[in-house]
Amino acid sequence: MLVIVLIFFFLAATLALFVKFATADGDFTLLSRGHAKREEIEDKVVWITGASRGIGEVLAKQFANLGAKLIISARNEAELERVKKELVGKHAPGEVKVLPMDLASGEDSLSKVVQQAVSSFPGAGIDYMVHNAAYERPKTTALDVTEEALKATFDINVLGTISLTRLLAPFMLRRGAGHFIVMSSAAGKTPAPGQAVYSASKYAVNGYFHSLRSELCKKGIKVTVVCPGPIETSNGTGASSSEQSASSGKRVTSERCADLTIIAATHGLKEVWISNQPVLAVMYLMQYMPTIGYWLMDKIGGNRVEAAAQKGNTYGWGLLFGQKKKAA
Ligand SMILES: NC(=O)c1ccc[n+]([C@@H]2O[C@H](COP(=O)([O-])OP(=O)(O)OC[C@H]3O[C@@H](n4cnc5c(N)ncnc54)[C@H](OP(=O)(O)O)[C@@H]3O)[C@@H](O)[C@H]2O)c1
Repeated sequence: MLVIVLIFFFLAATLALFVKFATADGDFTLLSRGHAKREEIEDKVVWITGASRGIGEVLAKQFANLGAKLIISARNEAELERVKKELVGKHAPGEVKVLPMDLASGEDSLSKVVQQAVSSFPGAGIDYMVHNAAYERPKTTALDVTEEALKATFDINVLGTISLTRLLAPFMLRRGAGHFIVMSSAAGKTPAPGQAVYSASKYAVNGYFHSLRSELCKKGIKVTVVCPGPIETSNGTGASSSEQSASSGKRVTSERCADLTIIAATHGLKEVWISNQPVLAVMYLMQYMPTIGYWLMDKIGGNRVEAAAQKGNTYGWGLLFGQKKKAA
């Protein structure tokens, strides 16, 4: 009788775990943390790049809601002003600083931007630097990528982001505190057939920021690397939400992505994954069983490139079996 009861409990626990994993939209450590700690954000200075739209805009709104003092950056000043007007919170929109900048403009220009940022709130430094801006994610084969897209991807996602960090970190070190939140990608953890250059840029930032943390963590510098899978943004890819859902399966909303990002940062997590299935499962596989993970990616690589060309689903289980042609 005891054996039957034990087997029953074992099967029930396995089923519960399976359901939990199948419906998860983030890694288990992240989901176990519950809520963002408001006290870690209130009255803190948060500088967000790429805040003119997409995930960056939603992050700005959520940080403002939690009482942060904000600096928002991107190239499009008019869009930043629009975002600023829409912010609601203890310090918004009156105290929000709009700081236009181009991450590809080189260190001299970025140095001036950093000087402006650190003097934006007298008596306070930058508490959180949210590296969210990125070049668009063009879908081409690894060999077909244009030189222009290759350079732009690395100039913005890697070189500009690292330069900004090199210029800002000394100010943080002087205060003995500062936290980099890096919006990376699932494509920085797993191969992304059809997006090889974007994937390469995200692997690069992951390597840089995990190394930076190891060097500086004893001097008060924290790093949270966020790796989202497909996220629904109203304008991130130039496509509407419904178009994105049709072409890319079920995405996590940008509100949920921003929420989980802030939870991760305020709980001091070093790396988190945000995604629905099947991308989340692939990330676990690549992390803990890479031999099987690479075998799987080799199975789907060609199908994913084909799916992207046909504007089909580039994230579904169907990639394992080939892509059905999209109905005309
Ligand atoms: N959306 C997703 O499915 C997804 C999935 C995984 C990871 N991510 C990552 O999450 C982050 C945000 O994604 P998103 O979809 O919200 O992006 P998005 O809508 O394309 O927005 C990109 C932001 O970066 C800014 N930007 C672009 N080039 C810039 C430059 N040269 N200098 C300064 N700012 C620049 C843009 O503003 P301006 O054009 O005004 O400069 C915009 O505010 C990115 O790092 C992306 O790689 C997104």
